[in-house]
Amino acid sequence: MSLARRNRAVLWRGDYRNARQLLAAVKRRLDRRPVPHDGTPADAFHQYRRATADRAHIVSRVLIELGPGYHLDLPHAPDVSQACLQAYGPATERLVTPLSELLGVLGAHQWRRRGVRVPVLGERIHPHYGVFAPTRQEYLDLVAAAPWPRATTAFDVGTGTGVLAVLLAQRGAGQVVATDIQARAVACAQDNVDRLRLADNIRIEQADLFPPGRADLVVCNPPWLPAVPTSELDAAIYDPGGRMLRRFLYGLSDHLAPGGEAWLVLSDLAERLGLRTRQELTEMLATAGLCVADRLDTRPRHRTRHQSDPLAEYRTAEIISLWRLTSPVRGHCPRYRP
Ligand SMILES: C[S@@+](CC[C@H](N)C(=O)[O-])C[C@H]1O[C@@H](n2cnc3c(N)ncnc32)[C@H](O)[C@@H]1O
Repeated sequence: MSLARRNRAVLWRGDYRNARQLLAAVKRRLDRRPVPHDGTPADAFHQYRRATADRAHIVSRVLIELGPGYHLDLPHAPDVSQACLQAYGPATERLVTPLSELLGVLGAHQWRRRGVRVPVLGERIHPHYGVFAPTRQEYLDLVAAAPWPRATTAFDVGTGTGVLAVLLAQRGAGQVVATDIQARAVACAQDNVDRLRLADNIRIEQADLFPPGRADLVVCNPPWLPAVPTSELDAAIYDPGGRMLRRFLYGLSDHLAPGGEAWLVLSDLAERLGLRTRQELTEMLATAGLCVADRLDTRPRHRTRHQSDPLAEYRTAEIISLWRLTSPVRGHCPRYRP
């Protein structure tokens, strides 16, 4: 570990199983160290992110070499070629990569193959490598439970695996257009739509926020935390400066059909961590010229957290909300009592 801290790495040439054992031992040692947490909740959050990045850096110092076509030539190594091909595309060159990264790719491959069961859909959704997976499903329950506004057209902005687009189609939207800025997500959503034979109802497009036109219902589950992502994989969780959220809200009135409704899915974890205030959110809604028709709340189901998680107290108290937003009628918003 001291070598790793001095930015040195080990290129492993021995038995694959021993490499995994070494990595597991490094992780165990790192997990025994308490993450410092003092100061404000925001300080705790930033310390936690620094500690996580530091841990990932140390863990990434065990390297392995893949030959052309992602051939891993170590004793007892599995065939990793298909998983790497799915994650990175074709490769003819040799490649040196952290073992931790390779294990992530193998895990993602398994998930993609088996899929994640989504009870509210009665189907499985198959996440691709690097795409936000619906593992926490409370937000899906909210979208399934919200009163249906008799929408025939719907947009799903930032579709990820396409799970919300599928749910909207199941709930009755005859035509759903789902967008994502990431090519990986677009391919993943299309894969899920095809597997579920919903291509006649759901069109997937790569776009920055909205597709052209207007819809009766516009749904968005943006990244929940206003912070800078440190990797491509983080980009679905962290929204630098809350930019996507703001641009989504400010663009809504140009994309809602007359009498239409928007559903914004958002956790209050950012507020609990002092990264955004409730007032900032309500001011954004007012500046966007939107009315709050209602808000549906739920709490995360899995509350047991690792004792060493310095954010456990905030995560435990977290509330996830579906905000039902409308345009004013004759310049007025209906009265909303939270
Ligand atoms: C929290 S994930 C939600 C994924 C999916 N809708 C769900 O609920 O499981 C946020 C998604 O927004 C996408 N995204 C981020 N910025 C975007 C933008 N400007 N335009 C379109 N999609 C964006 C990310 O790639 C990611 O897939």
